[in-house]
Amino acid sequence: MYPAVRMRRLRANPRIRDLVHGTRLSPRDLVYPIFVDERTKAPQPIAAMPGIHRQSLRTVAKDAGEVADLGIPAIILFGIPREKDEGGSGAYAKDGAVQEAIRRIKEVADVAVIADLCLCEYTSHGHCGLLRGARIDNDRTLEAYGKIAVSQALAGADMVAPSGMMDGQVAAIRRALDEAGFEELPILSYAVKYASAFYGPFREAAEGAPKFGDRRSHQMDSGSAVQALREARLDLAEGADVLMVKPAMPYLDILATLRREVEAPLAAFQVSGEYSALKAAAANGWLDEEAAVLESLTAIKRAGADFVLTYFAKEYAPRLA
Ligand code: PBG
Ligand code: ZN
Repeated sequence: MYPAVRMRRLRANPRIRDLVHGTRLSPRDLVYPIFVDERTKAPQPIAAMPGIHRQSLRTVAKDAGEVADLGIPAIILFGIPREKDEGGSGAYAKDGAVQEAIRRIKEVADVAVIADLCLCEYTSHGHCGLLRGARIDNDRTLEAYGKIAVSQALAGADMVAPSGMMDGQVAAIRRALDEAGFEELPILSYAVKYASAFYGPFREAAEGAPKFGDRRSHQMDSGSAVQALREARLDLAEGADVLMVKPAMPYLDILATLRREVEAPLAAFQVSGEYSALKAAAANGWLDEEAAVLESLTAIKRAGADFVLTYFAKEYAPRLA
């Protein structure tokens, strides 16, 4: 107790303070999301996400190359197809947006490519799965996910990241990959994904909003912590290699719980709405953007994330190097 204990002793000398600083960030902790839109030639700005563009198949490799040059080890790719259909066939087309982008990136950029694996950007109805009537048919969807995984692996993806929250998706994808000879390709599972208002800007960016209904039949309610642990353990049992929590900032408690309870690398996705909110506040002069962004990323890592998927990666990597 005071006066024997004085916490300020370690804070007065900046060098001592630095030694006990704790969590530090590096570009190597980050993954940069890239949207690739088959329909465009020039990069298209996303209104709700200042500084972020939808890349074209012509520009995506250059963007990925810049990411690599910044010391960021990986990107995650989202595709916007030329045409959408009921079954989301563009998601597993041999020459689909993501498949083609991976090939072009791999030719020039020394960066790991994680392929987001879902149907919502590719289905005419905007749902993450195949429909039977107005409902998602979980098990038929798993077959499609298996096909997507194999097509992404064949294109050269370094990791696949299923984001659809269907039951059994990790097991189905693992099986499909193994049968196709990709038993060493890792799966980054969006294991703990909440139905979140913070995905709003992403839906503009990737044009994957559901045409009717919402995603509550598969994404989790924000109040649930026990389901998070169960989701995480099930995905590990099904063969997931890395678990993700999404969004990040509103769910740091979940991240910290998983860090304590499960033995797996953890990722966190600082999603589009988290990015937009910080950018908007900063644009209004209400927040010091750099300080707020670095604080948010530090908090996500401190809570337990081994790495963070963030739209800030490219802009902030130089400040973390
Ligand atoms: C699609 C998907 C979404 C995000 C990643 N994959 C949107 C959603 O589930 O509605 C959100 C990413 C972001 O907001 O940055 N399954
Ligand atoms: Zn989806």
